[in-house]
Amino acid sequence: MCGIVGYVGKKNAVPILIDGLKRLEYRGYDSAGLALLGDKDIIIDKVAGKVDTLEKKIEKKHYFSNTGIAHTRWATHGAPNDINAHPHLDCRGNIAVVHNGVIENYRALKIYLEKKGHQFYTETDTEVLAHLFEEYHKGNLFEAVREALLNVQGTFGIAVIEKNRPGRIVAARWGSPLVIAKGETGEYFVASDVAAIVRFTKDVIFLEEGEIVEVDVENGIKLSDISDNREKKIEVHKIDMDLTEIEKNGYPHFMLKEIHEQGSTILNAIRGRLDIENGDAILQGLADFKEFFRHVNRIILTACGTSWHAALIGEYLIESIAGIPVEVEYASEFRYRNPIIEDKTALFVLSQSGETADTLAALREAKRKGAHVFGICNVVGSTIARETDAGVYIHAGPEIGVASTKAFTSQVMVLVLIALYLGRRRDYSLTQGKKLVREIQALPEKIKELLQQEEDVKKIARYFQKADNALFLGRHLNYPVALEGALKLKEISYIHAEGYPAAEMKHGPIALIDENMPCVVLANDDDVMYEKVITNIQEVKARNGKVIALATKGNRKIVELVDDVLYVPLTASALTPIINTIPLQLLAYYVAVKRGCDVDQPRNLAKSVTVE
Ligand code: G6P
Repeated sequence: MCGIVGYVGKKNAVPILIDGLKRLEYRGYDSAGLALLGDKDIIIDKVAGKVDTLEKKIEKKHYFSNTGIAHTRWATHGAPNDINAHPHLDCRGNIAVVHNGVIENYRALKIYLEKKGHQFYTETDTEVLAHLFEEYHKGNLFEAVREALLNVQGTFGIAVIEKNRPGRIVAARWGSPLVIAKGETGEYFVASDVAAIVRFTKDVIFLEEGEIVEVDVENGIKLSDISDNREKKIEVHKIDMDLTEIEKNGYPHFMLKEIHEQGSTILNAIRGRLDIENGDAILQGLADFKEFFRHVNRIILTACGTSWHAALIGEYLIESIAGIPVEVEYASEFRYRNPIIEDKTALFVLSQSGETADTLAALREAKRKGAHVFGICNVVGSTIARETDAGVYIHAGPEIGVASTKAFTSQVMVLVLIALYLGRRRDYSLTQGKKLVREIQALPEKIKELLQQEEDVKKIARYFQKADNALFLGRHLNYPVALEGALKLKEISYIHAEGYPAAEMKHGPIALIDENMPCVVLANDDDVMYEKVITNIQEVKARNGKVIALATKGNRKIVELVDDVLYVPLTASALTPIINTIPLQLLAYYVAVKRGCDVDQPRNLAKSVTVE
């Protein structure tokens, strides 16, 4: 949540900061601001709204500075207005701070600082940091920030600059990611995500929890622990990200581009991971735990949001293919109860970003209890990826659209591979394994074929354009797909949508059905539940509901029962969630576009939720 970018060097910081903020905007977009070191003072400009609004506001001011920090906000404390937007200043305007995270003890700190005479101007928790740094400042900003942070509870990724000290930024991290990098001309960057700086360099340093850093054009990088000021060695990582991956490349929205990438992202998720001869999966990331996985007798999958839906599909897959009992938990719930973790329990955390606060906290809690913890992440080098014992990357490439699409299908793909891997070490036969592997190999082409039916989806979108409510029904593996279809629609088109197990509809949602209520029913005819789903369709039709069925290509009979059909190619039942989700993503997309919604940046949401 919230994006931070900072620059020191010979160039004008302003365009670098604005471009960086735009690339971080998916982290939050309710207000934006920057702080620049002027000749005499720190110049602050900030505004409610998106980075574009900030850019327009400062356009005619022609700022020039070699030192600056900037922020795009997702409000936690204080309304998203001009005043509460970051950066924040201390009393004398000597220190400017941008912050990602939540200062949990800010009330106590504020009372303490007010007693000492500090004056506050905003409703934010962040402002206490600026005053605290001022309070601790005895001539050295790095020391002031370090000592002040020892009194702070909560999470932070911060960048700080000081009046009369050009060419220097102090940054620190606890719970909110930060990267720093050195550019070609002795310049330095600070950012909450590599996307902000990838066009300048691919060599980055990921700050670890509890680290503080000073980047200084004259003195280079100084990295220490906040707790004991022990200097630390710098480790440079090469990031594997191309600028084209974070551009729209001709698509009107990132979401549409990412939906269309799924043929190749699925291919990336399976590349090098299929053992055709043995009908098996090759998962190098889990190789060190081969023995452990042979004896695992219980699996917990934990995640948030769309990743949680992928986990629900994982439950069906692992139980049916590998015969191992699986539990799925919201990370935010898991961490606050007393989960039972035994020697043979494997815990998988799923996270696209690898930074979701609740998922990270669940992982830490499970590790504290001695669990073996594995990650299914997209962002390489993210906190969750680094803190898990091992894992399987989904390799979907950067996902910028706030509503997750390609990451979801790749998570499901990796879960199929994990189920196969576990299954082949148990009772899943060679014949079954080989058959599934063949189907997996054919999947990327089927996805490409499916994406050619986009025009059909556009037509179906008309049923939803004026709807206030919508229902998504599915059974078995298609139940989590229904949840995901409903979530996509509500996130980006603001239509209230519910996903339901088709049979459960009778126990509540049926009361909502009328001629204005579109209802999407997942009715693949290879599904063991097909006949029962047809009965559920009749129940909706009997109440004048509008039914749009998702059916297997070639099923002509279903046309007579429903208002419209979207056809999907036949695949193995384990892979139908992937095939079925794609038209639902397109549907949500086209409904949102028809309703004039901001598809990539839906209101109130953020891509990476780094607060609890
Ligand atoms: C936010 C995003 C969702 C995402 C969820 C979990 O709510 O808007 O798209 O599914 O966080 O994120 P993660 O990065 O952990 O998968």
